[in-house]
Parts: sequence; structure tokens; C-alpha cells
Amino acid sequence: MEGTDEQVSFGIDDLPVRDELRGKSPYGAPQLDVPVRLNTNENPYPLPEPLVERIAERVREAARDLNRYPDRDAVELRTRLAEYLTDTSGHEVGLANVWAANGSNEVIQQLLQTFGGPGRTAIGFEPSYSMHGLIARGTGTGWISGPRHEDFTIDLAAAEKAIAENRPDVVFVTTPNNPTGTAVPAETVLALYEAAQAAKPSMVIVDEAYIEFSHGDSLLPLLEGRPNLVVSRTMSKAFGAAGLRLGYLAAHPAVVDAVQLVRLPYHLSAVTQATALAALEHTDTLLKYVEQLKTERDRLVSELLALGYEVTASDANFVQFGRFDDAHAVWQQILDRGVLVRDNGVPGWLRVTAGTPEENDAFLDAVRDIKKEQGS
Ligand SMILES: Cc1ncc(COP(=O)(O)O)c(C=O)c1O
Repeated sequence: MEGTDEQVSFGIDDLPVRDELRGKSPYGAPQLDVPVRLNTNENPYPLPEPLVERIAERVREAARDLNRYPDRDAVELRTRLAEYLTDTSGHEVGLANVWAANGSNEVIQQLLQTFGGPGRTAIGFEPSYSMHGLIARGTGTGWISGPRHEDFTIDLAAAEKAIAENRPDVVFVTTPNNPTGTAVPAETVLALYEAAQAAKPSMVIVDEAYIEFSHGDSLLPLLEGRPNLVVSRTMSKAFGAAGLRLGYLAAHPAVVDAVQLVRLPYHLSAVTQATALAALEHTDTLLKYVEQLKTERDRLVSELLALGYEVTASDANFVQFGRFDDAHAVWQQILDRGVLVRDNGVPGWLRVTAGTPEENDAFLDAVRDIKKEQGS
């Protein structure tokens, strides 16, 4: 951040910041101005024009009431989200099962504020979505890094052991996993749930941010009879609405009641609710690109394999590829060719988001060129 000389000489370390935040860096992928950005797992397609019009209409209506606080319980929005979940999973979800917030990051934060916190711990199986650990830290929750196999699937025996030994209050399962793209089978989630209940009991949060891109089904039906299970979702990926900031969860109504204890009053603005409702009127149009992105994801996998790269099996809208002695150097070489991918810090691996066919061609041209330069 910029400031006057006096402001610049005074830094974070001079403030009475909490000890566990000292020396840490904020989370965030580089937002670089390059022709092809395939680094944050966004949907590359802008919203269709009729939807843009509908959003404008809905927001105009909402604007007339902006002197008032929004619907604190977001009843209409949660009802529509419940309908979407029921329609797409075949598992009956109602208003009382659904809660929404500003992105699934806020959903996760509310869950950790409710079920984690000082003196409590959460476990995730890494590499995985690093915000789980960072939100844990932000909420004063201890973080335990659980194991994965070499192929990035969850090492169930080791995970069960870690749960039994550490007795965490919260267990994160990300399926498909970010950054690896790995899907977690329902049997594994069930086994982890049983282990977590036997150890504590604790909450199991299944992060399904990318589920619409998966070859398999959502784990929503597992909610039946499991009140300590939560499925979190987002409109940032498949819905192509990352700028909207709308995440949601499905769980037993008691979980929805519990997060009320920590949510800020009126946390979801009337503008956000109006925009999300407009988007949900156009679910079919929004999700129409999902199939195309899945095809492009599969094309990236086969072309990267054909080029001689190793690729992790992906059920998401991105592909992890390697292996590199120096992944960051390759990240830079790809960037030098105008394409931004993600270096998640997984040693030897990089991640590329499936973009439009043209963007993916640009990426494939870049890695082909790098291979050629290396003479391999
Ligand atoms: C696994 C996972 N969960 C949650 C999120 C957060 O999404 P949102 O935009 O809804 O906050 C992401 C974003 O990249 C993610 O990869």
C-alpha cells in the first residue's frame, strides 16, 4: 500500500497484530494484465446479455429500497438455491437446509467461527484449497495438515488415524479437490465422517465448489441422517459469476440455525440478493457452458499427456500438470508467452484453468513451444 513517508516507515510489525498473523502474507493469486488468464479457475464466458438485462432490472427494483436493510434471512434466495440443489441432485433440499453468504469463503468462515475457534482444531488433506487453513488461522482455529497419496487421492487409512489421534472439531473434504482436480468417492467421505464422529464428534465440511464439472454426482444425498455433515457450494465457478460473490451451504436445519450465531446482521446486501436471484432465473443458460468446459478440460488433459507431461486426473475445470524440477521457472516461461497459469506451491506441479478453446490453444502453444526450446 502507498502512503506518506511517515506512513511508509510504520509497518504491520509496528502494530499490535495477533501473534499468529505476524510475518504472514495475504492470500491472492497475481492479477496480472496478460492476454490469457487461466489462473483462478474462473469461468471464461461472460454472462449472456439477456441475463445482464435481467440483473439490471432486479437491481433497479432493489435500489428503490436501499434505504432499508436487506432481508436478513435471504428467504427468497435460499428458496431458489434449495430448488436448484433439489433439481440437480435428486435429493430434497428445502429453505431450512440452505444458508448463503458472500462467496463460499464466507460460508467457510462462518462455519469455522461456529464450530472452530480458539482451543479447537480443523484438519484438511493437503495439497488442497489453502483458504481452509487460512480461514482457520483467521478464526483462531488450530490447523492440522492431513495426508494424501502420491497420486493426490486421500490416504484413507492415514486420514482415519490422523482424525483418531488429533480429534479435530472440523474435517474438510474438497471434492473435486483444488488444486489437484481429484474427486473423492462417497465411500471415502462416509468413512471420514464415521471416523470424525467416533473421535469427537465433529463437523465434516464437503467443499463442492467445482462439483458441476465432475464426472460423478454431488454428495448432497449423504446429508440424509448425518446432521454433522455440511456441503458447501458457490456460484463463482460453474455459474460463471465469480464477481457476484455468492456461496451457499446445504445441511441439517440445526447447522443453519447455528451459523446465525456468528453471521453479521444483513451480511448479504440487497444488491447481491437481487443479482443472484436474477442469475438463478437463468440457470440453464449459465450452466450451458459447463459441458463445453468439461470437454475442454478433457482436451487439455489429453494434449498435455501427448506432449509428455504428467497430469493428475481431473474432475474440475482445471488441470494439474508437471512434473518440473523448478515449477516456478516454467510458470514464468509460460507467462513470458502471454499465458498466466497458477503456481500453487505444490512442488513440481502447476495448474491451468480450462478457458475458451482459443485460450486453451494459446496455453498449449506456449507449453509446446517451451518443450521445443528444451529440445524434448
Ligand atoms: C475449493 C474451493 N472452495 C471455495 C472457493 C471459494 O469460492 P468463492 O468464490 O465462492 O468464495 C474456491 C475458490 O477458488 C475453491 O477453490
